[in-house]
Amino acid sequence: MRPPVITLDGPAGSGKSTTAREVARRLGYRHLDSGALYRALTFALLSAKIPKDEWVNLPREALDRFPILLRPNGPRFDVLLGERVLEAELRTPEVTALVSPLSALPAVRDWLLEAQREAGKEGGLVADGRDMGTVVFPDAEVKIFLTADLRERAARRFLERESRQPSAGELRLEAEKIEARDKRDSSRAHAPLRRASGAIEVDTSFLTFEDQVEVIIGHVKTLTKR
Ligand code: DC
Repeated sequence: MRPPVITLDGPAGSGKSTTAREVARRLGYRHLDSGALYRALTFALLSAKIPKDEWVNLPREALDRFPILLRPNGPRFDVLLGERVLEAELRTPEVTALVSPLSALPAVRDWLLEAQREAGKEGGLVADGRDMGTVVFPDAEVKIFLTADLRERAARRFLERESRQPSAGELRLEAEKIEARDKRDSSRAHAPLRRASGAIEVDTSFLTFEDQVEVIIGHVKTLTKR
């Protein structure tokens, strides 16, 4: 029997990627960070010096010149642009600022769909993003919607990036940026961020990392009888 696909969707800073990675590790499945694909295309467009005001009109054929692909590598997928494995390039402030509007474009979402579905073809996948349970893997055996209080998410994002606690002003600024991105990701016409029908909501505001991983694994065990 094919091992299950587990989807984790939720807003920025809800801890999706780190949680998904750990859940995948404990279950012996592979982790897909779908946001990395949107970030890779943002990086590729910036590197190719395509003017930002042209991004909105890029046809599918124009995207085809960017050889972005996922390559299985143990418990994860490497994101490649040609031969180059992308890592830190995906997390620069410039990419982070531009990825959300790019990801709202139907041509872009459509273009990235196949690579994501291919990654889940054999099951045994924990996929995190915004539309994993709604669009990419509508038949996933387990769907989780992760949420957390805005200030908590802002604090986590800041700590992760700067390796220190934010001041009150820094926290406010971080929260404003996250809120703006959530608004864009949730209000776009195409595949907006929303809870998939049948998805279990897990609010991580007051959970330790260990607890949230345990809660999700508990749901996986119940729903898949594993
Ligand atoms: O999860 P992240 O911060 O790496 O995602 C970067 C952006 O990509 C985010 O603003 C929304 C978009 N995204 C998306 O639209 N759909 C996904 N499945 C994953 C990410």
